[in-house]
Parts: sequence; structure tokens; C-alpha cells
Amino acid sequence: MQRKILCVGVWKDQLTFNQSVAAARHIAELTNASAYPFECGIAPSPFAYVATRDIISQHGFETVAQNIMWHEDSGSYIGETTAPMLKEQGCKYVIVGHSERRLMFAETDEIVARKFKTCLDADLFPIICIGDTSEDRAANLSWDKLERQISAFLDGTHKLSPHKFAIAYEPVWAISTWRNKEPLPSGSTVEAIQAQLRSLVAQKTNADFAQTVSILYGGSVNSENGREYLLQPNVDGALIGGASKSPTSYVATLDACKEGLLCRSEFPRSS
Ligand code: PGA
Repeated sequence: MQRKILCVGVWKDQLTFNQSVAAARHIAELTNASAYPFECGIAPSPFAYVATRDIISQHGFETVAQNIMWHEDSGSYIGETTAPMLKEQGCKYVIVGHSERRLMFAETDEIVARKFKTCLDADLFPIICIGDTSEDRAANLSWDKLERQISAFLDGTHKLSPHKFAIAYEPVWAISTWRNKEPLPSGSTVEAIQAQLRSLVAQKTNADFAQTVSILYGGSVNSENGREYLLQPNVDGALIGGASKSPTSYVATLDACKEGLLCRSEFPRSS
């Protein structure tokens, strides 16, 4: 079954406009996305989106939006970025429901599901993030949380195509900015969780659908562990936060992901 493989550097609000432009130029000097057997992207801040895109798109990188407003109407939603704004600028991929939006900006499963639908209606490709927290783990509620998050956007979307969106499993306890002392999950742990997530998707859709949808992983992916994560058959790419802030470490992480993917027995897949 052919699945899209996608690796995206997520800059969050960590780089200013000038820093984003400098980083984009440096990435463009270091590499070209065609060097990788998967699609590569950068998600800059909205303020630096267009300037970043103008540099990296010539080198084959997608410019991914970090967030979107939950409906297409323009008007009285100060500070928001709408689907038409993103479409006009040639955006294809949008991160939806990142844990920082859920935890710090009170985005509920319902809001995330509306954003997901807004993307699909506008022919944008949502990368929808789900993830459990340390507290969920301690209370043995991780799977309740994950199931609720998945149900919120999958239930009721009968005409959904598995080619039109991806899921990103991002355990909050493994994200670099939130991590306490918990060890990072090994490749085999991530594989087991993502295989179970795929089964959950199959229960809500069907086996073919679940086998076709891409499930990315995110949580402190870097040049040291990218190989191990991408080696796993149920890891269809990565969201790379902290390690993407520096161009050299971002490129080294992409290189590690490439190494892992190329070692997979079922490779090549389409990108
Ligand atoms: P991290 O961030 O790679 O710094 O853990 C990932 C994310 O927040 O998407």
C-alpha cells in the first residue's frame, strides 16, 4: 500500500522574520528536497511564511502552515489566518491541532475537527496532530485520549479520502519543550503505538483506508534518533521541532530519516 512520507521542520514562534529568512537561505545552500525519498517541508511562523516560501520552494521544499482559522469566512477574527489566505499563497499542507494549540490556546477536539474540515473543504491537506500527556499516561488514560481525538475528526466525515490528510502522533511527554525526565520512546515503542493507532483508524473506517493514511511521528526527532524512527513501517514521516531551528541540525535530521527509510524492507514507496 502506497503511503505519503513527509518530514516537516516546525519552527513554531522560535525564529523572527530575519532569522527565518537566514535559516531558509542556509537550508537552500545545504540541500535540495529532491535529495530525499520523501516530501520535505518547513512550517515557519505566519509572519515569515511568504518570505520563507520564496526561498525554499525553489529547492523543492513545501511551506507548511502552522495553523488555520476554523472557517473560511473572512471578517471578525483578528489575528487569524484563513483558508483563502493560505490557498492564495500556494499552501498545500496545514498543521492542525498541534498540542501547543490544544493545551495553551484551549483548542478543543471540536475546534480541531472544524479546522480539519475547513482544510478539506478548501482542498488543503491537514496534518492533524494527536497526542497524550504525562498525566494521561500516569492515569492510564492515553488510549482514551487518543481515541477521543481521532473520533472527533473521523466520525461523520463519510466521504473522507485517506490520501487527503495525515495524522501526526505527537506524545506531549516526548516533545522537547515539554519533556521532563521521561525517556524518549524507542523506535519499537513508537511502532507499536502507531500500529495500534492504525487499527483504531481501521475500526472507524476500514482496513484499506487505515493502511493508506499516513501517520507521522513527532517528539524530539533529531539527527540521532531519526533513523530509528523512520525505520519503522508504521512511521510515515516526522514533525521536527527543536532540531529544525538550526539549518544544519534540520538537514542532519532529514539525512537520518532518509537513512532509516532506505533501510526499510518495503521501500520504495511513493512520496
Ligand atoms: P520537538 O517538537 O521536535 O521539539 O519535540 C515537535 C513538535 O512540537 O511538533
